[in-house]
Amino acid sequence: MSNKWWGQVAYQIYPKSFCDSNGDGIGDLQGIISKLDYLKDLGVKLVWLSPIFKSPFVDQGYDIADYQAIDPTFGTMEDFDELLAKAKERGISIILDLVINHCSSEHEWFKKACADLNSEEAKYFYIREGKNGCPPDNLRSYFGGSVWEKLPGHENEDLWYLHYFCKEQPDLNWYYEPLRQKLYEMINFWLEKGVAGFRIDAIMNIAKDLTFPGLPADAPDGMCSAAKMTAKLSDEAATFLHEMNNATFKKHGAISVAEAFGVNPESLSNYIGKDGFFSTIFDFSARELNEKYPACYRYRPVSIAKWRDTIFASQERVNDIGFMCPIIENHDEPRGVSYYLPRHAQNADGAKAFGAVNVLLRGMPFIYQGQEIGMTNTRFDSIYEFDDVAAKDNYKVALEAGLSERQALDILNIESRDNARTPVLWSDEKNAGFSSAQITWLKVHQDYKNLNVRAQQNDPDSTLAFYQKLIALKNNEPYHDILTDGKFVALEPQAEYVVPFARELNGKQIQVIANFEDSAIVHKVTPNAQVVLSSKSVEIKDNQIIIPAVCAVVIAL
Ligand code: GLC
Repeated sequence: MSNKWWGQVAYQIYPKSFCDSNGDGIGDLQGIISKLDYLKDLGVKLVWLSPIFKSPFVDQGYDIADYQAIDPTFGTMEDFDELLAKAKERGISIILDLVINHCSSEHEWFKKACADLNSEEAKYFYIREGKNGCPPDNLRSYFGGSVWEKLPGHENEDLWYLHYFCKEQPDLNWYYEPLRQKLYEMINFWLEKGVAGFRIDAIMNIAKDLTFPGLPADAPDGMCSAAKMTAKLSDEAATFLHEMNNATFKKHGAISVAEAFGVNPESLSNYIGKDGFFSTIFDFSARELNEKYPACYRYRPVSIAKWRDTIFASQERVNDIGFMCPIIENHDEPRGVSYYLPRHAQNADGAKAFGAVNVLLRGMPFIYQGQEIGMTNTRFDSIYEFDDVAAKDNYKVALEAGLSERQALDILNIESRDNARTPVLWSDEKNAGFSSAQITWLKVHQDYKNLNVRAQQNDPDSTLAFYQKLIALKNNEPYHDILTDGKFVALEPQAEYVVPFARELNGKQIQVIANFEDSAIVHKVTPNAQVVLSSKSVEIKDNQIIIPAVCAVVIAL
């Protein structure tokens, strides 16, 4: 169809945790270069790097101090150029993370703004007077507390700046045209360098109501989540998004994958339709079931049945509009196998079956590092083992609400963003082969002795081997076309924890039946059915397939 990417599988690298080449306990660009053959063998064609730019890392690089410099923790611009070139040699394109709703308070723009309120840079931010000694409105930031903070250097005045995320992440004023031009120049700098495009961070937040009216409180703290304001304004950013596309991505034929929470279904075609602002957006519909704030500790588990119903609805919605990117986890979410699957399926069998769903749904799937070996949540034994600013805030909020330390910790072990941010498990050696350092920046997953890439590379029945087969199925004929352009069709689930769907093109059908029940199910097929791939051995007999517990089958009809 429209875009060469829709037939591909993408992979997300969280650089701090991918591979450490210099023994400082933190992953880096040379570490990524050393694993390019691994990615090639996996079959992925597009790699998204979470931020690698100069940063104080208050929010792990999502607080950028210089958009055109590589943070020394990760290496140099030469390392980056080498990565681009060596990836290209292997048929892999790189996309970067575009964090343009906010920058870091260490960015020179913000420093200049604080130093001189009449400067050009002061217009790049939202700096306002308070109301009756209080912040201009009552919105709560995503990481807790007010979205307003006293402007550094002006603490004795009634002057505040806006930050939807940490106070170290001041929001950029998209309503100031010269700032937008600066951002577009920066985007073009990277595109001219040869990156294939961008994953675009938190983009819905750029829309602001410049009267800063606030919203009715949604919790006893008298505040209201900034997310509610974003949802209210979701279409307001449209003109900027259109402008950005024309000034950057479109000119370069680049791919843009937006992190866009809360897009109204009616406006979806503006986002990912033929002339949409973006090439595609992630499908976060399952994640959106858990509106975490203000009470993350009141989260409700999302079963695979609920996941199925939500994702299926979203797949049906976009069939005729465009493409979304299916995911089961990323650096902001716990591991999908631990979060969505029933207990008996939180293992390699579950990881394989879930992988079949992820890779074969319609759209360009993103695999998050470690997912392909079936990594589960890491177990944290104390709050001091966490690094994430959101995890620390959630812990505090939970304690304030009266939960015990144990209860708060148990919740973080289920929900926290650090669950999926721990190092990739490469081998059964020290630090799982991730780093030669004494201490790694985040702890290493407890099961690394058994659960690691090297062990799986030697095992044809491993999760890794199964992911390779799934990706090969999508990459190659005879099924490439149907798995790319084929319409998504929901099938009737045989039992609660079954995820059954089909892809259809020109009268042909591929069915994917993932059984997460703890017992076998019977799936009826027509006489021409052929099992193309399955995660456990199955047989077709009398037009029926018995699909064992926790197993996925791919059938061609
Ligand atoms: C996005 C990122 C997340 C970050 C936030 C603020 O949601 O994925 O990791 O904390 O934006 O930049």
